[in-house]
Amino acid sequence: MAGPTPQEPMKNQQKCIAVFALLCCLAVLVALIFSSVNIWGDDEDGITEENCNTDCRIELVENIPNDLSLPADGRPHLPLSVGFHTLLDQAKRSVEVVSPVWALNPWDLETTPSAAKQGQLLFQRLLSLKSRGVKLKIVSSLTNSAELKTLAAHNAEVHFVNMTALTRGGLHSSFWIVDRKHIYIGSADMDWRSLSKRKELGVVVHNCSCLALDLHRVFSFYWQLHERDYIPSIWSKRVTALYGRHDALELQLNAAEATAYLSTSPELFCAKDRTRDVDAIYQVVQSAKTFIFISVTDYLPLVTRSFRGTSVTRYWSAIDEVIREAVVLRSIRVRLLISFWKKTHPLTFNFVSSLKSLCMQLLNCSLEVRFFSHKEQNDDIQHGLNHNKYMVTDNAVYIGNHDWVGSDFVYSAGVGLVVKMKNGLHERGVTILEHVKAAFERDWRSRYAKSLQANKDQQGKYRSLQQAKIHMEAKEEKEWNNPL
Ligand SMILES: *[C@@H]1O[C@H](CO)[C@@H](O)[C@H](O)[C@H]1NC(C)=O
Ligand SMILES: *[C@@H]1O[C@H](CO)[C@@H](O)[C@H](O)[C@H]1NC(C)=O
Ligand SMILES: *[C@@H]1O[C@H](CO)[C@@H](O)[C@H](O)[C@H]1NC(C)=O
Repeated sequence: MAGPTPQEPMKNQQKCIAVFALLCCLAVLVALIFSSVNIWGDDEDGITEENCNTDCRIELVENIPNDLSLPADGRPHLPLSVGFHTLLDQAKRSVEVVSPVWALNPWDLETTPSAAKQGQLLFQRLLSLKSRGVKLKIVSSLTNSAELKTLAAHNAEVHFVNMTALTRGGLHSSFWIVDRKHIYIGSADMDWRSLSKRKELGVVVHNCSCLALDLHRVFSFYWQLHERDYIPSIWSKRVTALYGRHDALELQLNAAEATAYLSTSPELFCAKDRTRDVDAIYQVVQSAKTFIFISVTDYLPLVTRSFRGTSVTRYWSAIDEVIREAVVLRSIRVRLLISFWKKTHPLTFNFVSSLKSLCMQLLNCSLEVRFFSHKEQNDDIQHGLNHNKYMVTDNAVYIGNHDWVGSDFVYSAGVGLVVKMKNGLHERGVTILEHVKAAFERDWRSRYAKSLQANKDQQGKYRSLQQAKIHMEAKEEKEWNNPL
């Protein structure tokens, strides 16, 4: 028998090549199908950076507890709960929510039903999104939330971000994205207190797909951290920032020319081109021409790091120093409104006194500090708490998720929105800037904002937080006894 003809190995080789080519084609096809599914899934509404909308409507939303009597400023005032319901009314495809807390239904029976009503209502509406065919996506760092379990059992897709593993911080981010067109950013959490007894401030931006698209990239970043215990060093382009402090989005807000961008923290959570919260704050402070008004729950330029059971605290100068510069070197008038509550760190008073003493013997130097304090009822430390986290200047507003505490910016996740008006404060009463400024001035002038002045007989010193507290309470007593 003759051996195999010389053609046979050739044929085998050809077969091999053909099979190999076929496999390659198949692999490419599979890759294409998967990537395009991904792309379609991501862009099913067809909104891209090229065709997104920049003619937007922005509204200030606030929650003012019923028993706070703040002077009216004569402006239309949109309650936070109405802002949320309007967003849900508009939702057609998707609602994406990030919140540090999920407690829309109070679990303790002592809560008065009327205080909890808005929270429960919002929860019911989130549950009923399914019946309208609207997808609900949630990112959370909570492992054992009954509310998230209920939502997940109904329709929600919930992704878990293990902040302990990633940065040892917390997930403070609080925002909504609806249909990749409308957004909310502010101080409120998905907590019934945010809709009743806590004082909150945020913004809802409608018809603003460019900004929503970029916030969605922050959301995607969180989404992809699902159950990971490290932050990947290489990220998909789909989380790269679209806008930042050097290339802000040009847009119209209620027909006024403006620019806007988002910032995030901590630094590890800043995808490519994303501006850090601290840098956004720098930019807003540095571009102020006449005034800077800041309203935060806590002001504490310290970073505390726990390491092997011991904790080390360092001075964190980042924000403190730009404020000093603005006050002393550029004569910008600065007002700082901080909450005075059970969790106020005792060193707050020292840092604040240090800031105030800068202006001694200086002309045209003005730095004022007031503490917002409401008489606590039933020992509920959140009652009447000014939970705001924003800054407004003569030309810009920064609305964030963090208090101005070093550890928060360094370890915890948060998002900020910077809006800069092109024409400053000219069109009175029209711009968001005017609204936020009016809200600040209303709080600043209210009976709850008190300056902490040391009594002479205390030689200008408080020996402890307790003493400062007694002093504040004595002042409060006086004011309650003789209003005005
Ligand atoms: C989160 O990460 C920490 C530290 O790596 C780990 O101990 C913990 O079990 C993780 N939690 C969850 C729910 O995976
Ligand atoms: C958004 O735009 C649509 C269509 O342009 C308009 O009908 C709607 O009233 C706008 N919504 C808001 C809140 O401005
Ligand atoms: C203080 O401000 C006034 C008015 O803005 C200005 O005329 C004056 O030169 C300033 N003085 C100093 C010392 O900067």
